[in-house]
Amino acid sequence: MNGRGKTFYITTPIYYPSDKLHIGHSYCTVATDVMARYKRMQGFDVMFLTGTDEHGQKIEEKAKSAGVTPQQYVDQVVAGIKELWKLLNISNDRFIRTTDSYHVESVQKIFKELYDRGFIYKGSYKGKYCTPCESFWTESQLVDGKCPDCGREVKDAEEEAYFFKLSAFADKLLKLYEENPLFMEPQSRLNEMVNNFIKPGLEDLCVSRTSFSWGIPVTFDPKHVVYVWVDALSNYITALGYGNGKYQDYEKYWPADVHFVGKEIMRFHTIVWPAMLMALDLPLPKKVFGHGWLLLEGGKMSKSKGNVVDPVVLVERYGVDAIRYFLLREFPFGSDGLFSNESLIGRINSDLANDLGNLVSRSVAMVDKYFGGKLPAERENAPIDEEILTIARSLPARYEEQMEHFAFQNALIEIFKLISRCNKYIDETAPWVLGKDPANNPRLASVLYTLLECVRICGILLTPFMPDTAPKIFEQIGASPEVTSYESAWEIGLMPAQAQVQKGAGLFPRIDIAKELAALEKVEGKTAKKTEAAEKKAPEKSAPAEGVATIIGIEDFAKVQLRAAQVMACEPVPKADKLLRLELDDGSGKMRQVVSGIHPWYEPDMLIGKKVVVVANLKPAKLRGVESNGMILAADAGENDVKVLFLDESIPCGSAIR
Ligand code: ME8
Repeated sequence: MNGRGKTFYITTPIYYPSDKLHIGHSYCTVATDVMARYKRMQGFDVMFLTGTDEHGQKIEEKAKSAGVTPQQYVDQVVAGIKELWKLLNISNDRFIRTTDSYHVESVQKIFKELYDRGFIYKGSYKGKYCTPCESFWTESQLVDGKCPDCGREVKDAEEEAYFFKLSAFADKLLKLYEENPLFMEPQSRLNEMVNNFIKPGLEDLCVSRTSFSWGIPVTFDPKHVVYVWVDALSNYITALGYGNGKYQDYEKYWPADVHFVGKEIMRFHTIVWPAMLMALDLPLPKKVFGHGWLLLEGGKMSKSKGNVVDPVVLVERYGVDAIRYFLLREFPFGSDGLFSNESLIGRINSDLANDLGNLVSRSVAMVDKYFGGKLPAERENAPIDEEILTIARSLPARYEEQMEHFAFQNALIEIFKLISRCNKYIDETAPWVLGKDPANNPRLASVLYTLLECVRICGILLTPFMPDTAPKIFEQIGASPEVTSYESAWEIGLMPAQAQVQKGAGLFPRIDIAKELAALEKVEGKTAKKTEAAEKKAPEKSAPAEGVATIIGIEDFAKVQLRAAQVMACEPVPKADKLLRLELDDGSGKMRQVVSGIHPWYEPDMLIGKKVVVVANLKPAKLRGVESNGMILAADAGENDVKVLFLDESIPCGSAIR
């Protein structure tokens, strides 16, 4: 499909910055990224939005127990989330934080507009509240007296509150689903919404709170803050500039082409959100797609269950493209899937190392071996070449058919059918036999050209899934940008007749599954234990014993403030062989005193004037009666050697080190 001149607006849910994000959270964002890249490849003008949902009681409580303000708390966690998306190669065009002032302004206007139009009224709320889900429930909605979403305890709650007239929209919603059968997908979600929520009778929704303050104040009654879901759902239009002057993209991109969301929040996206938009007289999103959950044996992933699967660890071990591929190849997007390390490694070995990696390296190696890296122009075709090329010729259409339905798994299966067929073709044509007699060169060149063409087409179609690997493939087979655009996947024979290949590193090394599983168990065992311990203990008590490698998330690392500082003065601490007292200029305008045990390796004059790295937010400590405010970083450089990390002189004092 040619998207030139057309827009495509796609969103992920905005994430709570309350817990560390696990691989389940990454699932939706990676899928959205693949779709956004695919649409860009087709020429669409894409708006890909993601962000963070930062208000609510849960955040307020977390900040309190961490001893920081809610704003400080979310700032720290959001920095980690942004790093994670960078690591996963997420190409979002915009990132909204619900604490951004333009969003706050818009939500206040939306709330007032709904009030002025008579869709919000004041009442008093009695009900059951699930704090982790930020959800109010009626008695009848509870399952075994517990939250129907997460199964946790709920508590009684009563407060003066504003209500949104959701009950007035039941018929309109049913009509919407009827007239627009593709409004929500997969279809199974439709029955759930209609039978579980609309048919039993929609109740008005409580949309303000007075029991906590970390939220957007209602302008005309400021002891109330706006219910987090009204705040959060609005992000899809406020991020385009609706109700604010920050952006001017509302007319261009709204309504959204699709909201990707997890199945448990379909209710908010297919009932509350369209009702809010109807009340505001605004167009509705074209589609809401509810994907399944990644589960671990024994249940849903969650930090509180201690079974976190850390995407940072996985990306570090296997590379970002292997993880992206696995997530979308292993599970049908609309269904739940069981995540396991065995299936991850098995998939990497079979599809990426054996099938794709081998095809690319064998094809390139043979052009190199038999023709010195450059194919001769002379050819001798055989019917089997045409058989392979026919599959390649029809692949883009089959791929597109699946991609248009968000059937990522099937799209990848189509590509890998050709990859497997090519590997079999190599065995059938036995280039190593042809290569024995130069008289066969035209036939051999034809086989290798066919392979390079197929690899080129597969590489193009894999680009949205594996944005790092595809360019490596093109480089190795010598495919220039003119023959790797999306349109060029639809045409066979675009590689130059005398294609020039470039041998490169293997794309995906095979993993020794037994060794790797043992190594992972250690990493995950420690992560799980650490998580449990951290939840039980106060943060400062949970420091690991020296030498124990503990995996931490980026948000944990972000808590450590590292700064550039210059040593202005230095002297030994009296009656302490190992200690030096340093005075550092850390850019704050005040000298910082630090005591460091580096005297065995450094004399004061070796340090004065040097730029070092100081940990600036370490709790002060007294060493031999001398106060130390932070520490300077040094490396173990040998059995009994330590080297201070010196910085380039040009780095200004106080610069943050990340
Ligand atoms: O729900 N497998 O935020 P959130 C697949 N702030 N997806 C998973 C998952 C798993 N194991 N665990 C979580 C919120 N998710 C709201 C959204 S939108 C206006 C507001 C998905 O951080 C989950 O289904 O709790 C949801 O779609 C997303 O992660 C964000 O969850």
